[in-house]
Formats: sequence, structure tokens, C-alpha cells
Amino acid sequence: MNNFEFKNPTKIIFGKDTIAKLESEIPADAKVLMLYGGGSIKKNGIYDQVTKALSDVDMIEFGGIPANPEYATLMEALKVIKKEDINYLLAVGGGSVIDGTKFLSAAAVYDGDTPWDILTKNVRTKKGMPFGTVLTLPATGSEMNSGAVITRAETKEKLAMGGPGLYPEFSILDPQVITSIPERQLANGITDAFTHVLEQYMTYPIDALLQDRFAESILQTLIDVAPKVLKDPTDYKPAADFMWSCTMALNGLIQKGVPGDWAVHMMGHELTALFGIDHARTLAIVAPSHYKYNFEAKKEKLAQYGERVWNITEGSVDDKAYAAIEKTVAFFHELGIDTKLSDYTKEYEGTAEEISKRFTDRGWKLGERQALLPEDAEKIVKMAY
Ligand code: NZQ
Ligand code: ZN
Repeated sequence: MNNFEFKNPTKIIFGKDTIAKLESEIPADAKVLMLYGGGSIKKNGIYDQVTKALSDVDMIEFGGIPANPEYATLMEALKVIKKEDINYLLAVGGGSVIDGTKFLSAAAVYDGDTPWDILTKNVRTKKGMPFGTVLTLPATGSEMNSGAVITRAETKEKLAMGGPGLYPEFSILDPQVITSIPERQLANGITDAFTHVLEQYMTYPIDALLQDRFAESILQTLIDVAPKVLKDPTDYKPAADFMWSCTMALNGLIQKGVPGDWAVHMMGHELTALFGIDHARTLAIVAPSHYKYNFEAKKEKLAQYGERVWNITEGSVDDKAYAAIEKTVAFFHELGIDTKLSDYTKEYEGTAEEISKRFTDRGWKLGERQALLPEDAEKIVKMAY
């Protein structure tokens, strides 16, 4: 196991009807900006629950943050923060609203030329404007981590940011919110969380027995609850397991002491930036090709995953590893997720070269050994056509 330090300061308030507890989490002197997305919270009752819980709090709101939170929209929210002397942010939404709020938390205290620098110059925020979240969509883990991904339509870019000052102070996780989530987004959430675990697990053996078991247990739980959640999102028991699995998949715990890959995400982000494909679906496109391309380097963990998660007991390490990739693809298909780029766009020619060029311009070497070069990414994306 590698050496590590672990600190996650986010308070989780989990369970039925917990949105009512909001007020006790907001500081008494706060002037709050509540941020939300395209309006689903107004249809499913979450907006009413939040505003009722905060009826005595000094709060204004900013809605309209789109999926894949857009820089231009967030810059409008930043103007409101400055004009209205806001000192506390409240995200009510999925990963996009929470990530947008993290960007604002960082941008509100940033004194460089332009907040875009935070994304392009790898600015790590040590202390941002404080914020909390009410999670409406289990998927990203953003509710309990310090990372964010921001999209800029003008330049067709999607870039990551973060820093120790960008953990939410609290996050409210009421699994009942999934009742209103469309099937497509539920499938996305399962796929995203599943791939988060794979990114932190599908590397090389490092004798971190507990982290492996943590990772495998999250994968097994997601496989178990996926059909139940899709069949009936009003069923509280699988909803609760689904929501907590998504949070645990990316709150830092399973990454401690082990190598991380994250190349699937880096290639996937480019597919969202170029084609607007849902984040989770880009991962399902890239992951199978990535694991096949890097088969030799990853086959021991692939085989372990095959044995422990998919109960593949027959054959050699190679056989099990290959069968594990096939099982993963079949799982995505069962969720209704297509796994080839050509399933999403007919304009895919040249995509691999474009992604390779972007990675070269950024000087990126990816993967758990920083050995995946832009030309490798090009080949992987081509395999995913
Ligand atoms: O905008 P509204 O109207 O709220 O509708 C949203 C949106 O259309 C809808 N939705 C959310 N909760 C709902 C609901 N509809 C009905 N009932 C509810 N309870 O779902 C749609 C998608 O929402 P979004 O927030 O975009 O989804 P998700 O949570 O999957 O977030 C995706 C974003 O997070 C980033 C992705 O790149 C993408 O930009 N990620 C963030 C990460 C992080 N911060 O750690 C890690 C991830 O790997 C990921 O990159
Ligand atoms: Zn993801």
C-alpha cells in the first residue's frame, strides 16, 4: 500500500426527509445564493422543501445552470454573488449544479486576471466561499469531494479543477429524490459511479486488500441495485443503496494508498466537449477499448475483478480478464447505454486525432503510470468508434 493522508471534511446528512434539516447547517449571518439547474426541482417538490426549510434565511436564487455546467452561465452567477454581497452558496442539484457551485466558490475569492485561469492554469483553491449541497441525482460523488468539471461552449472545452478548499461543508442526501429522475439519468448515474470505482481499481496490484474489497463491494452493490432502481425508483431500499454507493465511489476513500488511472474520464470529457454526449455515456464508450488496449498492464486486476465481482471462475488470467471486459460491456448494455461512439454520432471521423492533438497541446501523459501518451489515446478512441 502507498503512503497516504486522508481528510474529508464534508458532513453527510443522509436519509428520508432530511432536507428539512437544512436551516441548522447554514450560518446565522449568511447571505445565501441558492443555485439550481434547468428547473426539475420546481416540478418534483425539492424547491418547495428547500425554500420552506430556509424561510427564515436571507437567500436569493440563481437557476438555469445547464447539464455540463457552462462557464458563461456561471459568470452571470458570479456577477450576482459580487453585486449582492453573497457569502454562502447552496447547490440544489446533480453533479452539474454542484460543480458549477464549486467553480463559483473558487471564482468568488480568486484575484487573478480571469476565473478561466482556475481551469487552464491548474489553480488549486485552498479556501473558497463556503457552500453546502442538496443532492438531487446520485452519480458523480461531487457532493463529498473537492473536484469539479466545467464546460465552455465557446471553445468546446471541458476542464477539471479542484483543491482542498472546495469540499462542501455539508451535503443532504435524501434517497427519495430519485423518484423523479428520468430512466436515462438513472442509468447514467449507475454507469458514472461504476466507472469511478474502475478508475481507482483497474490499475495494477499494490497489496491494498481493504481498498480492493471496498471497491469490489461498491461495484457489487451497484450491480445488485441497478435493475431495481431502474424498475422502480420509488422503492426506498435500493434507492438508498444506490445513492450511498455513488457517494462512496468518489469521496476519496477508495483512492487512498492505491494508484489511480482516470484516463477514461479524460478521454470521455473530450467526447462531451466535442459532441455533448452525456458524461456517463462517454465513459461507457471509452472504457472497454481502454481496458483492451492496456490489457497487459491491467490484466491481473481485470481478472481479479472478473472473479470477485462477476464470479468468473474458469480459464487463465487472460481468459478471465477478457471475460470481465465483456461482462462490463454487457452490464452497460443492460442499463440501456450504448458503448460505441458511432451509436451517438455519425460525425466521428477525425475525433481521435483531435483528442490526441489536444492532449499533446496540454502536455498530458495519462494513466496510473503516466505512460499513456496522446498517440495511445488516439488509438483507444479509434477502437471505440
Ligand atoms: O437541470 P435540471 O432541471 O435539474 O435537470 C437535471 C439534468 O437535466 C436532471 N435532474 C437532476 N436531478 C433530478 C433531475 N431530474 C429529475 N429529478 C431529479 N431529482 O438530470 C439532468 C442531469 O443532471 P447533471 O447534474 O448534469 O447530472 P450528473 O449528476 O450526472 O452530473 C454530470 C456532471 O458532473 C461532472 C460531469 O462531467 C458532468 O459535467 N462530473 C463531476 C465529477 C465530480 N465533481 O467529482 C466527477 C464526474 O466524473 C463527472 O465528471
Ligand atoms: Zn464520472
